[in-house]
Amino acid sequence: MLHGDRTDLLGDVVGGAEETTTGVIRLRSLAEAGKLKYPIIAVNDADTKHFFDNRYGTGQSTLDGITRATNVLWAGKKVVIFGYGWCGRGVASRATGMGAHTIVTEVNPIRALEAVMDGHQVMPSREAAKIGDIFITLTGGLKAISRDHMELMKDGAIMANSGHFNVEIDIEALEDMSDGKREVRPGVDEYPLGDGRRLYLLAEGRLVNLAAAEGHPSAVMDMSFANQALTAEYLARTARNLAPAVYPVPRDIDDEVGKLKLRSMGIDIDSLTDEQQRYLESWDMGT
Ligand SMILES: NC(=O)c1ccc[n+]([C@@H]2O[C@H](COP(=O)([O-])OP(=O)(O)OC[C@H]3O[C@@H](n4cnc5c(N)ncnc54)[C@H](O)[C@@H]3O)[C@@H](O)[C@H]2O)c1
Repeated sequence: MLHGDRTDLLGDVVGGAEETTTGVIRLRSLAEAGKLKYPIIAVNDADTKHFFDNRYGTGQSTLDGITRATNVLWAGKKVVIFGYGWCGRGVASRATGMGAHTIVTEVNPIRALEAVMDGHQVMPSREAAKIGDIFITLTGGLKAISRDHMELMKDGAIMANSGHFNVEIDIEALEDMSDGKREVRPGVDEYPLGDGRRLYLLAEGRLVNLAAAEGHPSAVMDMSFANQALTAEYLARTARNLAPAVYPVPRDIDDEVGKLKLRSMGIDIDSLTDEQQRYLESWDMGT
């Protein structure tokens, strides 16, 4: 809005802090195009944000949303996870813990490799489409599940999105393929296809963890919001000296949030002795 319809407000803006993966990507594109008007801190990229909020928060709340909407039994189900980023990793590991057979689809070879070595099956999405019972998109992109996939799915397949808006599943194609739809439970739409199969879409393809559950537990959002608060303070002090660009959360803020979180959990950790510190930093010892 500030870069479009309300540029009249830009004069009062000293900086911004961005919470989400997709938001940071968009702001980086704006900066690369030379159109960003004020400095941005990429809060999503703080370790104490995406390692925890995206992985454990989205991981738990996505399964929670799908369970609340459908009361499905996860054990023994074939769960297909689109995208093995921070959110995908969290969802996949939690689905494994519930006894599901997890299948990951990726476009990035390193992430695909990581998924394989974490114990998930990896295959092209069109192969996965034929065998999955539950499909969950977490790619941040467009049409991860397209008409081609839906043509191949089994009767009763369930589709949910926990990534970016309601664009990761091609809902237009689904509506086009089906003879109407009916809500069989709150947040569960059944789409009968001409060939007798029925596909189920949860929460109208919107973020299932927010639409059908309560989002992330506050015990993980606390770190994200601590980063936001400390970043806002940092921006208030420094933003006037920063050029319009996307900056990381300062390391000391990230570390401080980690320390505070541990303290709030009543957990102490060790510190290096001076001798250990010297050894780790030296070039002439142990080589
Ligand atoms: N539901 C929530 O509450 C919640 C919370 C945090 C983040 N998010 C959103 O979830 C999305 C993912 O976030 P992330 O931090 O995991 O991002 P990420 O960049 O770490 O991971 C995304 C992964 O998806 C893969 N990918 C992209 N397109 C694909 C496709 N068509 N098929 C298969 N894989 C594909 C990428 O290679 C990448 O590994 C973002 O849109 C983010 O904003 C949602």
